[in-house]
Amino acid sequence: MNVGVLGSGGREHALAWKLAQSPHAESVVILPGNGGTSPNVTVCPTDPEDVAAVCERLDLDLLVVGGEEALAAGVVDRLQATSTLAFGPTAAATRLESSKLWAKRFMERHGIPSAEHADVGSTAEVLAAADRWGGRLVVKADGLAAGKGVVVCDSPARAGEAWEDVRRSRPAGEPVFVERVLEGWEVSVLCVTDGRACALLPAAQDHKAAYDGDRGPNTGGMGAFAPVPALDTGVLEVVRRTILEPTLAGLRSEGIAYCGFLYLGLMVTSDGPKVLEYNARLGDPEAEVILPLLRGDLLDVMRACCRGAWNGTGLSAADGFAVDVVLASGGYPGAYATGHEIVGLESVEPGVLVFHGGTRRAGDRLLTSGGRVLHVVARGDVLTEAVDRAYRNVARIRFAGMHARRDIGRRH
Ligand SMILES: Nc1ncnc2c1ncn2[C@@H]1O[C@H](COP(=O)(O)OP(=O)(O)O)[C@@H](O)[C@H]1O
Ligand SMILES: [Mg+2]
Repeated sequence: MNVGVLGSGGREHALAWKLAQSPHAESVVILPGNGGTSPNVTVCPTDPEDVAAVCERLDLDLLVVGGEEALAAGVVDRLQATSTLAFGPTAAATRLESSKLWAKRFMERHGIPSAEHADVGSTAEVLAAADRWGGRLVVKADGLAAGKGVVVCDSPARAGEAWEDVRRSRPAGEPVFVERVLEGWEVSVLCVTDGRACALLPAAQDHKAAYDGDRGPNTGGMGAFAPVPALDTGVLEVVRRTILEPTLAGLRSEGIAYCGFLYLGLMVTSDGPKVLEYNARLGDPEAEVILPLLRGDLLDVMRACCRGAWNGTGLSAADGFAVDVVLASGGYPGAYATGHEIVGLESVEPGVLVFHGGTRRAGDRLLTSGGRVLHVVARGDVLTEAVDRAYRNVARIRFAGMHARRDIGRRH
């Protein structure tokens, strides 16, 4: 098969790396890719016409869509009548992620545990909701906001302000609602599904804050590890029974076909696991730790899923753990410089993976070109071994302004 991976981050690099291991992969191209991937082909991932034209030109048998913007733009829908199979949900199914309000109502319709929410139309209504819920609440914008549409508020005054701020920063007319704060610990449970059959992937935990100890501004993710020791098989069984299966059954009962990765962002509370959000794709940096732990022919499974004929077998989790430490540009997630030369990659130990996020090639030099530059991924029989190996190799890579958290995978 000629395979394409749509996107340009570390997640897509990891997907291409995994798919290239399949004996069925004749070629794997990345659209548009980055300085660590090849061959790359230029495309605008959120333009379904452009993507379809490139798939036809390259005679691709399968396109794996990495990111939510392309899914929400309808790339998978556009490819449906073509000779390229598309792995990922349609725009309608992607609403689980692209409309938080739609997802909330979906969960309410199907009795899936999640935080209670309120539709609010004025600051007074926000304050009233905060009062009802002990002074705290979460403000959420409906649409895709790249992590910038959610504010957890500790007081009614803060809630009122945050609601106004989020409304101002979002497109006119987009709903901004509020929900109750859930207490507990967070974990991401991901699966591959064709809408019926479903295989759980190793559970992952990411580290969103920029600095050690979960301080500082939120980022796209400064690192991750998998699997998560605290998530025992008992909790996982509850997730399957009360969240995953009702979600897939709910989609089917509403006539919505879902093929792709499904990501459950969960809060494990004293009252059981509850959904914080759905994502309609692999997380980034979760993908970088999950895919190296995955045994089996992912390409074969994806093809079966696209044809709606998967029996749910073919994937399993390897023993051990994986850790991803992100090397970010100094200043990220705020303003940062790019174009710095990256050195030391050739000295990374065998078996340690380096997936590229924000890099580009200039002749035979490798330069930074984004906020999250590199993902250093190490495996180990125990988590501490993977963590130590990752950091030993982080120390071998350098670029001006490089910033990494020092505590990825150390608290769990
Ligand atoms: N109801 C909630 N209770 C507590 N924390 C929440 C709640 N909803 C969201 N959060 C926090 O905000 C983060 C971002 O919210 P999420 O719904 O995942 O949106 P997004 O990832 O699109 O920004 C979550 O990872 C979690 O830490
Ligand atoms: Mg989230």
